[in-house]
Amino acid sequence: MELAHNAELIPTAVEEILRWASPVTHIGDTTAMRLKDKVAIVTGAASGIGRSVAQVFAREGCHLTLVDINEAGLNETLAGLSGVEAVAVPADVSRSEDVQRAIGQTMDKYGRLTTMANCHGISLMEDTRIVDVLEEVFDRTIAVNLRGIFLMCKYGVPALKRSGGGAIVNLASAAALSGGGGTSYTASKGGVTALTRAIAFQNAAEGIRCNSICPGPVDTPMLQISMKKLGLTTMTSRPGTIPRIAQPEEVAVLITFLVSDEAAFITGAIYTIDGGATQH
Ligand SMILES: NC(=O)c1ccc[n+]([C@@H]2O[C@H](COP(=O)([O-])OP(=O)(O)OC[C@H]3O[C@@H](n4cnc5c(N)ncnc54)[C@H](O)[C@@H]3O)[C@@H](O)[C@H]2O)c1
Repeated sequence: MELAHNAELIPTAVEEILRWASPVTHIGDTTAMRLKDKVAIVTGAASGIGRSVAQVFAREGCHLTLVDINEAGLNETLAGLSGVEAVAVPADVSRSEDVQRAIGQTMDKYGRLTTMANCHGISLMEDTRIVDVLEEVFDRTIAVNLRGIFLMCKYGVPALKRSGGGAIVNLASAAALSGGGGTSYTASKGGVTALTRAIAFQNAAEGIRCNSICPGPVDTPMLQISMKKLGLTTMTSRPGTIPRIAQPEEVAVLITFLVSDEAAFITGAIYTIDGGATQH
């Protein structure tokens, strides 16, 4: 998928993209309960992909701890869930004490942790070219996008082990494979794919799987920020690619598959979900 440059037409472009993104209405078999009796922590659950993951996980019978720095958004997500137990834990995933508190509260409430979907992330407007980007912008992006995943896994893996094993999915980005997402964001997402492989390598024999996914453009608030940052207004598709952006639920369904027992032999993998863009 290619992004065309035009500095002036952001609001129009965002509307255009929202029209362009075809709604997804029939993903998943709603009766299968693929995650029945599992217990998951979902980060980034106040918005976008993380919120959609919380909704699909709940539909599949999974009990939830929802984590995000945005408490109001977190409570909105929580209010929209039904049929499973769920708790909201406001936390900054770049802070060790916050991460340990979220995992501790999950173990206290449910007595186990089987599943982690690390969907938090930032893409800062100031994350520009290598020669211009401020060191603080790089440090904050790495702190949230990469250190946040490091901390979630560092303190989550022992809890998964105590629960008899489980599965982790970490959100990277197609930017990690193509380089087009800004200096710090791209570096952080490359780090996420490599860290995921290390975790998969170290824990395969103990029943813990760890995979990363690399979405292309997804219809969430972050996409709008990323487009503004890059001065992009419209998207055009390259030959051989699916000519639209993804809906958050399409990404959530891939994550659901990867954490489900149906994916029991999949670990250390990087899944692209981008309409074919990184393949051509
Ligand atoms: N939207 C896209 O086009 C796209 C493409 C590729 C990858 N991604 C990745 O998917 C993931 C989800 O992004 P999204 O599109 O849903 O974005 P989003 O902005 O809608 O959601 C990101 C969430 O992360 C939370 N967050 C930010 N900093 C945090 C912190 N320090 N602690 C806890 N929570 C924090 C935000 O509050 C927000 O709720 C991110 O990792 C993003 O990089 C998104």
